[in-house]
Amino acid sequence: MTKIALFGATGTIGTRVLHEALRRGHEVTAVVRDPARFPDSAGGATAVVRGDVLDPASVAEAAAGHEVVVSAFGPGSGDPAALVTAARSLIGGVRSLGTDAPAPRVVVVGGAGSLRTPGGPMVWDEAGFPAPVLALMHAHGDALDFLRTVPVEEVRWTCLSPAAQIAPGERTGTYRLGLDGLVVDEEGRSRISTEDFAVALVDEIERDAHAGRRFTVAH
Ligand SMILES: NC(=O)c1ccc[n+]([C@@H]2O[C@H](COP(=O)([O-])OP(=O)(O)OC[C@H]3O[C@@H](n4cnc5c(N)ncnc54)[C@H](OP(=O)(O)O)[C@@H]3O)[C@@H](O)[C@H]2O)c1
Repeated sequence: MTKIALFGATGTIGTRVLHEALRRGHEVTAVVRDPARFPDSAGGATAVVRGDVLDPASVAEAAAGHEVVVSAFGPGSGDPAALVTAARSLIGGVRSLGTDAPAPRVVVVGGAGSLRTPGGPMVWDEAGFPAPVLALMHAHGDALDFLRTVPVEEVRWTCLSPAAQIAPGERTGTYRLGLDGLVVDEEGRSRISTEDFAVALVDEIERDAHAGRRFTVAH
């Protein structure tokens, strides 16, 4: 059993991570901006506390007493640069807990834009993305660039990028792994259900297999 603090527990991905972690017997503290709005249907969390992933002091308060901090934060229609602020805040908040106890690990949900396609270019260099999506992709890339400056001896961080397409669907419990390259199927598509993405993320919580690096999963 691992004690997990989860930012973004009300979101599309965070809800699935919450359910997947709970079904495997982990203790999950849902860290939400407004506990009063946390829907019962998405609940079952071991505890629900108020927190802001953009504020390092709030991250430290929420992270204390947990072994892993997960961020499924998304900026919605707000400024994509908040993804970089969140990454800095997560690391800064965890670092500020000091060295008396082992620092919680940090697992961040990233983006697919910075993955390399089998043909060579980055996903974000492929044609056709609207400007807001491109901005989100590059903000995820900037957040990853920041995480890569953090020595794992200080904070054991991991970034998990979804497949190019991720949508709620079936929990098969299976997926294929990649590192910095987009994982595609025989037809060249890169897809994962949100449920299986959550399986992979909780597998990473349990296995600690990708400390200090980004990885990706797809069907
Ligand atoms: N293929 C891809 O690359 C891909 C596809 C999908 C998603 N993603 C990424 O995955 C992440 C999650 O996506 P999603 O679709 O699950 O997002 P979502 O449904 O919009 O959920 C975002 C979550 O962030 C929370 N949040 C917003 N501001 C916060 C703050 N200041 N402090 C704490 N929590 C805050 C929201 O809580 P409230 O309830 O308070 O609003 C919500 O729980 C995003 O970063 C997204 O860009 C990538």
